Amino acid sequence: MQNLEELKNQVKKCKKCELCSNNATKVFGKGNEYAEIMIIGEAPGEKEEIDGIPFVGRAGEKLNKYLKEAGFDKEKDIYFANVLKCRTTDKNNNKKDRRPQEDEIKNCRTFLKQQIEIINPKFIILCGVTAMKFFKITEPLKNIHGKEISKNGRKIYPVYHPVARVKDEIKINDLKNIKRKIKEQNE
Ligand code: URA
Repeated sequence: MQNLEELKNQVKKCKKCELCSNNATKVFGKGNEYAEIMIIGEAPGEKEEIDGIPFVGRAGEKLNKYLKEAGFDKEKDIYFANVLKCRTTDKNNNKKDRRPQEDEIKNCRTFLKQQIEIINPKFIILCGVTAMKFFKITEPLKNIHGKEISKNGRKIYPVYHPVARVKDEIKINDLKNIKRKIKEQNE
């Protein structure tokens, strides 16, 4: 298995799909690579693409706020990554982000898969439906947000994406419950 830096270099060189065609900035990951919790989002947005770092735009600001209120220390406790390493913009409207397509998720799959293997988190929080798709979780998010699913020896928790039109209270509560479950399992 390669290390995180080698994988990052491999991602940098990727030309698998149209998203990389104009030398798009790849957004790999951030946070504590030895953390036991990994948070997986969808794809970088405009700010993430500029900075080359995941979750630094509006979604990131919201996520930081929710994590803080739920008692997580994001620098210490968490490693962050996305399903896609390139920004997905609408061809007809270059400024507007869109949901990743199935073929794009498939093309990028190997990178997140290896990233998870290297980080080897005990717990994975999935932000939104694209991250759920990666794990082939098909139940509606409204039925399983904040719940625990066991997969390949890891505990997986789907939650609403930070910019989903759902009350802050619900998103914070889910994270609080997850924090409690993680604490119980580490006792
Ligand atoms: N920024 C990210 O890095 N991921 C998302 O899912 C949304 C915004």
